[in-house]
Amino acid sequence: MSSHQSHEAHPIISVNSLWKVFGKKPQIALEEPYRSQSRAELQQELGLVVALRDVSFQVYPGETFVVMGLSGSGKSTLVRCLIGLIEATSGELTVDGDDITTFDARDLREFRRSKMAMVFQNFGLLPHKNVLDNAAYGLEVKGVDRDDRYSVAREMLDKVGLTGWENANQRELSGGMQQRVGLARALAVDPHILLMDEPFSGLDPLIRRQMREELSLLQSEIQKTIIFITHDLDEAITIGDRIAIMRDGEIIQIGTPKEIITQPADDFVKEFTQGISKTKVIDIEHVVSEPDVVFSPTDSHELVRTKMEQANTDYAIGLDPEEQYLGILCRDQLDAAVDHTIHIDSLVDSSIVSVLPDTTLDEALTFLSDQNLPIPVVDESNAFIGVATQPDLLKVVASDL
Ligand SMILES: Nc1ncnc2c1ncn2[C@@H]1O[C@H](COP(=O)(O)OP(=O)(O)OP(=O)(O)O)[C@@H](O)[C@H]1O
Ligand SMILES: [Mg+2]
Repeated sequence: MSSHQSHEAHPIISVNSLWKVFGKKPQIALEEPYRSQSRAELQQELGLVVALRDVSFQVYPGETFVVMGLSGSGKSTLVRCLIGLIEATSGELTVDGDDITTFDARDLREFRRSKMAMVFQNFGLLPHKNVLDNAAYGLEVKGVDRDDRYSVAREMLDKVGLTGWENANQRELSGGMQQRVGLARALAVDPHILLMDEPFSGLDPLIRRQMREELSLLQSEIQKTIIFITHDLDEAITIGDRIAIMRDGEIIQIGTPKEIITQPADDFVKEFTQGISKTKVIDIEHVVSEPDVVFSPTDSHELVRTKMEQANTDYAIGLDPEEQYLGILCRDQLDAAVDHTIHIDSLVDSSIVSVLPDTTLDEALTFLSDQNLPIPVVDESNAFIGVATQPDLLKVVASDL
């Protein structure tokens, strides 16, 4: 989503060696020999469920941190600990510099009102309230007066695309719309951190994808710290700056989408990521090469044609003396230009789109031309970096299949 977070910054959330054990006398599970026993053994021997085992991670301001894992792996338990809905059995939990494990009920209420808001899977809307009142609810609880809370709620409803629906009731809304109201309500309290526990899992695949993209867009505008729970890897890699993969209460790997997919920590992660296309996470700069032929605007038609013939290629890349990218010249175009008074740089094919080096292969593939031309790669100031040829691009796609 946004990758501008700097890891030199202080983490906004710091989780250290967190354990959550459900059952009677949960502390026993943390003592040897039980501590090193598997979840299944502990459940059988002591009747205790280790929902979180020695979990540690940091989240940085503005980051979208995804927690992914199969059902029962401990994802919801983790977010419930984070927002203080349940108490951890052991470990440290620091949010915005405060150790929240020391908070009393009042501190926690204040914490949830100001710092952290949660968006639930089942929307959590109040059925007897209309859209506007639902969106304003968090502010109402905070004691904000009517005019002010309505004004903020309207603004947030607008952000999530629900202007015009203020007076509607929950039953008039689709699942996706209800989820947007939930999101508007969470945003209205202007929390530092948004916790989203499988917020889109109740939605149709199509709406789900749409919501995911909208959240990405919204996030680039609001730049909140988001902890997003999902068991959908596709979702995780589209919206996550980093992903933590959980199994049986433990974090197996934390990494960027690219790291998770290209360097899975073990067979479990590998299996998890198998269905996912590498083209979604690998950037085009990994397949960039130098073009066989470049020309400058002062070159003659003959010279460029000879260079193409010698290199046995059908195109040449035009660069000005400052290495600025001018365009691709196709062999056909050059051959067709019998009138040599036509300046060579007016023959370039302007329909070929150039891309930035951090374009994913997936995006880049949509720019592939049907004339077997490469994709030119340039930096932000249009300085030429290289080309991604069709064969090189297709090799990565094929290795994926
Ligand atoms: N209140 C509870 N009492 C006892 N066991 C619990 C409780 N809450 C969760 N668990 C157990 O802890 C483990 C982790 O549950 P959790 O709900 O955190 O999983 P999850 O990863 O969110 O799963 P899902 O994807 O199905 O939502 C499970 O084995 C669950 O049975
Ligand atoms: Mg859950």
